[in-house]
Amino acid sequence: MAAGGLLCPCALLASCQRCSSSSPPPSSSCSPTDEFKSSSVVELMKKEGTTLGLTVSGGVDKDGKPRVSNLRQGGIAARSDQLNVGDYIKSVNGINLTKFRHDEIISLLKNVGERVVLEVEYELPPVSVQGSGVMFKNVEVTLHKEGNTFGFVIRGGAHEDRNKSRPVTITTVRPGGPADREGTIKPGDRLLSIDGIRLHGTSHAEAMSILKQCGQEATLLIEYDVSIMEVMDLPPAVCIGGCGKGGEVPLVPGQ
Ligand SMILES: *[C@@H]1O[C@H](CO)[C@@H](O)[C@H](O)[C@H]1NC(C)=O
Ligand SMILES: *[C@@H]1O[C@H](CO)[C@@H](O)[C@H](O)[C@H]1NC(C)=O
Repeated sequence: MAAGGLLCPCALLASCQRCSSSSPPPSSSCSPTDEFKSSSVVELMKKEGTTLGLTVSGGVDKDGKPRVSNLRQGGIAARSDQLNVGDYIKSVNGINLTKFRHDEIISLLKNVGERVVLEVEYELPPVSVQGSGVMFKNVEVTLHKEGNTFGFVIRGGAHEDRNKSRPVTITTVRPGGPADREGTIKPGDRLLSIDGIRLHGTSHAEAMSILKQCGQEATLLIEYDVSIMEVMDLPPAVCIGGCGKGGEVPLVPGQ
């Protein structure tokens, strides 16, 4: 397809890759690492004496900014389905971590009250494009919530800076959670609608709130990538072991 302006995120990715690989950098405004980051606010509730199950690396005395290095399975942070390993933590309950040492961050998180508000920053999910061997398919999945979540993390959504707008994308499917047990949804899939409410044009915060407010059972419309090879209706002659629908590429090029 033509490299039209409509495929904005990818066109931009391409332009920024060009930009960053050229030397010297043509302009300071083209910094792919910043340009494709977004942030959100994560609220966690914990009882006194319990921990979040959140391990943080980094600090001003360490190599690297504070970020999530582990989410303990079954812990409050993991079950919130709002954090991914690798997320940067900018602030805790409004306290800016920029100048904090590693031990100070650990101590802050340990002694924080029952309500923990984290400002997190992360790389935006990559954008899938139809065309080069990939096409999109949709599927409806009905899930039941547990702890008011379906067991996946979403990122992306519409952003006031158009360059940062992405489809609402599932980045993590929590092992053992509702989505994982149902089995259809995989990381990288896009969430198009929740009980018929379309998410096109909704921000990350709006999509999160729709997810929170929908019923205990909801039907999610999911978009996923399939390789063209899997969906082509090929004549039996080129199939080895039968051409099952959705089969695991049982075909070889006919000679
Ligand atoms: C934290 O402080 C630094 C400078 O000290 C500032 O650049 C940054 O925007 C602040 N971040 C937050 C989340 O307040
Ligand atoms: C979005 O990306 C385009 C192309 O790289 C750039 O010219 C423009 O300044 C960017 N807009 C913002 C708000 O960063």
